Amino acid sequence: MYANAIAAPVRKVTVPELRARKGQTPIAMVTAYDYTMARLVDEAGVDMVLVGDSLGMIVQGLANTIPVTLEEIAYHGRAVARGITRAHLVGDMTFMSYQVSALQAVESAGKLMKEGAFESVKLEGGVEIAESVFRIVRAGIPVVGHVGLTPQSVHAFGGFKVQGRGDEAAEKVITDARALEQAGAFCIVLEAIPPDLAARVTEEVSVPTIGIGAGSACDGQVLVCTDLLGMIRGHSPKFAKRYAQLGDAIVGAVREYVGEVQTRAFPAASHTYKPNAASATVHEKRTSESWPLDEPLPLDHWH
Ligand code: KIV
Repeated sequence: MYANAIAAPVRKVTVPELRARKGQTPIAMVTAYDYTMARLVDEAGVDMVLVGDSLGMIVQGLANTIPVTLEEIAYHGRAVARGITRAHLVGDMTFMSYQVSALQAVESAGKLMKEGAFESVKLEGGVEIAESVFRIVRAGIPVVGHVGLTPQSVHAFGGFKVQGRGDEAAEKVITDARALEQAGAFCIVLEAIPPDLAARVTEEVSVPTIGIGAGSACDGQVLVCTDLLGMIRGHSPKFAKRYAQLGDAIVGAVREYVGEVQTRAFPAASHTYKPNAASATVHEKRTSESWPLDEPLPLDHWH
C-alpha cells in the first residue's frame, strides 16, 4: 500500500548519457539562477541546466560577466540544485578563477563542485586552457568547453561580436574545439559563430556541440532562460527566440495588482482569514503535516 503512494524517483541525466547523444536527439540546455526557475525548467524536460556567469547581467544588472565571482555561482548553484530532479547541473567557472594556472583551475573547479552542488563545470577558451581542462577532468570533474564568442573576453573582442568569420578565425575555432575534445571535455558550447562553421566543428569533434547563435547543426542548443521567456526589456540577441512574452505578462499582472491595491479590490474576502478557524498559522492547508526541515517547500505551498 505504501509503495504505491511513493512516486518513483526521477533518474538524473548523466554525463555518459549526454556524451552518447552525439548525432542523436539534440540536447536542450537552459540557464537558471534560482530554485523557482530551476523547478519549472526541469519539469519542462530540459537535459542540462547551466548556472551561467550571465547571472551578472541577468540577476545583478551588470554590463558584462567579468565581475561575477565563484562564490556567487556556488550560491546560485545550491538554490538551483534544490529545484532539479532530472537535468544535469553545470556551473560556470568565473573570470580569473582558472586563467592563472592549471593548479588554480583545479582548485576552483573543486570549490564549485563542493560548494555549488554542481555535476560539471564550464570554462571559456580553447588551446590556452586545454591543460587546465585535462587536469580538472583527471581530478574526476566533468568539463563543458565553450568556444567562439567567449563573453569573459568581451574587451579583447571589442564587444559581444560574432566570432569565426573568415578562414583564419574559423580555423582557430576548430583548433580550439579539438583541443578541448582531446583534453577530455564531454561537450562544447559554440557561441555566436556562423552556422556552417558550427556544422564543421560538430562534424570534426566526437563530443556533442551545444550551440547558442550557432545554427541548427549542433548536437544541442542553449538559451538564457530570460531570453527564451521574453523577460528582457529592450534589445535581446538576434539568436534568442522568445517562446513567451513573460515580461509583458509580469508588468501587466503587477500593474493590475497596483490598481487593485489602490482601489481596495485586493484583498477580497477569499484572501483573508476567518476569525474563529482552528488553524492559527498562515499555512492553513499544512497544519496537520510536519514539513521536514531539509525538504524544499512545494511551489503551491502558499496557495
Ligand atoms: O553564462 C552563460 O549563460 C553562458 C551561456 C550563454 C552559454 O555561458
